[in-house]
Amino acid sequence: MPDFSAWIDRELPRFHDELEAFLRIPSISTDPEHAGDVRACAEWVAEHLEAAGIPGAEVIETGGHPIVLGERTHAEDAPTVLVYGHYDVQPSEPDELWSSPPFEPAVRDGRLYARGAVDDKGQVHMHIKALETRLGSGADVPVNLKLVIEGEEEVGSRHLNAFLGDHAERLACDAVLISDTGMFSPELPCITTGLRGIVYTEINVFGPSSDLHSGTYGGAVVNPANALAAILAGLRDQQGRATVPGYYDAVRPITARERADLERLPMDEETLRAGVGAPALGGEAGFSALERLWYRPTLDVNGMLSGFTGEGSKTVLPSRAMAKVSMRLVPDQDPAQVIEAFEARVRELAPEGVRVEIKRSHGGAPWVADTDHPVFEAAGAALESGFGTPPAFVREGGSIPIVQAFEETFGAPALLIGFALPGCNMHAPNEWIDLEVYRKGIGALADLYGRLGNRLG
Ligand code: BES
Ligand code: ZN
Repeated sequence: MPDFSAWIDRELPRFHDELEAFLRIPSISTDPEHAGDVRACAEWVAEHLEAAGIPGAEVIETGGHPIVLGERTHAEDAPTVLVYGHYDVQPSEPDELWSSPPFEPAVRDGRLYARGAVDDKGQVHMHIKALETRLGSGADVPVNLKLVIEGEEEVGSRHLNAFLGDHAERLACDAVLISDTGMFSPELPCITTGLRGIVYTEINVFGPSSDLHSGTYGGAVVNPANALAAILAGLRDQQGRATVPGYYDAVRPITARERADLERLPMDEETLRAGVGAPALGGEAGFSALERLWYRPTLDVNGMLSGFTGEGSKTVLPSRAMAKVSMRLVPDQDPAQVIEAFEARVRELAPEGVRVEIKRSHGGAPWVADTDHPVFEAAGAALESGFGTPPAFVREGGSIPIVQAFEETFGAPALLIGFALPGCNMHAPNEWIDLEVYRKGIGALADLYGRLGNRLG
C-alpha cells in the first residue's frame, strides 16, 4: 500500500492554506444577509472537488441554499459510497468573545480557530483531501463515490429530503459516510452509533395590546412574562423529567450491555463539569451524565425574551413574551407525536387571560446504527491504521436529522466517523479543529476508501 502519511505530510501546508480559504467564507445559513456568501461557498466546494479528482461537480439549486453534488462513478462493479457533509455554519456572535475574528482563521497551539473549523467545513475538507491523497500517491479508488455537501444543515436540512427523493436513482449507494460528529480524545477515534432527534418550537404568549405601566395595571392584567414563566416551569418536574404526557412511553430502556459499554469509556464527570465551567452537572434523576446525554430525551429552553432587559429598571408590564424550547429525542420517540403532546401540554399550563401561539420549527427523528454491518469493521481497521488505536463506539447527544432519511431512502447503512474533540466549541465562540487529528484523520479516511471497496463489494 502506498505510504499515505508521507504524501500527506508533504502536502499539509497546502491543505492548511486551502482549509483557511474555505473557512474565510462566512456561509451562515440562517442569516439571509449571507445568502451570497453561502452560494460562494458552494462554488468553492464544487471547484475544490474538481481539483481533487471529481470532474463535473455541480452546484444544484434547491429553493434554499444550494447543494453541491460530486460524482466519481467509474467502477461499474464496485460498491458505491455516498459522502455527506455540510458547508454551512452557525452564526458567529457574540463576536467579542472570539480571541481572533471568526472568519479569519488563526493557528494557536496546534489548533485552527474559526467558525466552521470542525462543524463541518474542516471535516468535509478532510474527505476531499483523503480522496486527493489516494489519487496523488498512486493508490486506486476502489469505490464509486458520490458526495452530497449541503448548505442548510444548521437550519434543519430543509430541502435535502426532497433532493434525495428527486435524485434517488442518481444517488443510490451501498453506504453513507458522514463526518460531522466527534471523538472522545485526540488518541481515541470514535464511531458514532446513535444520534438524538430533535423537535424545536417557539412559544409566544400575548397579553395586553401594548406594554403597560406595571403600577397602574399590575395585578389586574395577566402578565405574559409571568404566564410564560409558569408554562416553562410546568414543563419539567423536580426530577428533571419532562411533564409532556406520554413523553417517555416510547423511550427504549438502557440495556445491561449498553450500561457495560458505557462503563468502559474513559468518562469522568468532574472533567466534564470543569470543561463546561458550570457549578454542577444536573439532569434527569437516576442517570449518569453519559446516559442523560445519549440515552435520555430532554426538554430545554434555548432562549427567552420579554419586557425590559436594559440597564437599570423600568416598571413595565410587557405585552408579550417569547421562548424557544427544544426537545432532544431518543429511539423510539416520534417527533410528530411529541410535538402534538407538547402543544397540548403548553395549552394546559397556560393561565387564563393570555393567548398562546406555538410555532413549529425544524425536527428530526432519533437514529441508532445496526453495528453488525461490515462497514463498521472496515471503519474500525481504518481508524486503527490512522490513529494507532481501535475506535470506541459512542453515541452523540446532538442531532443530524438527515441520517435517518439517508438510511430509509437508500436502504444503506450510515457510518458516522467524526473528528471533533471535547471542548471544540461547536456553535460557540472560538471553535477549533485539532490539526494533528485533521492530519491523522485524512490518512484514516484515505485508508477507509480503500477498505470500503473490499468490504461492500
Ligand atoms: N455537527 C452537528 C451535530 C453534532 C453536535 C455532532 C454535537 C457532534 C456534537 C450538527 O451540525 C448540528 O449542530 N446539528 C444540529 C441539528 C439541528 C439544527 C437540527 C443540532 O444538533 O443542534
Ligand atoms: Zn455539523
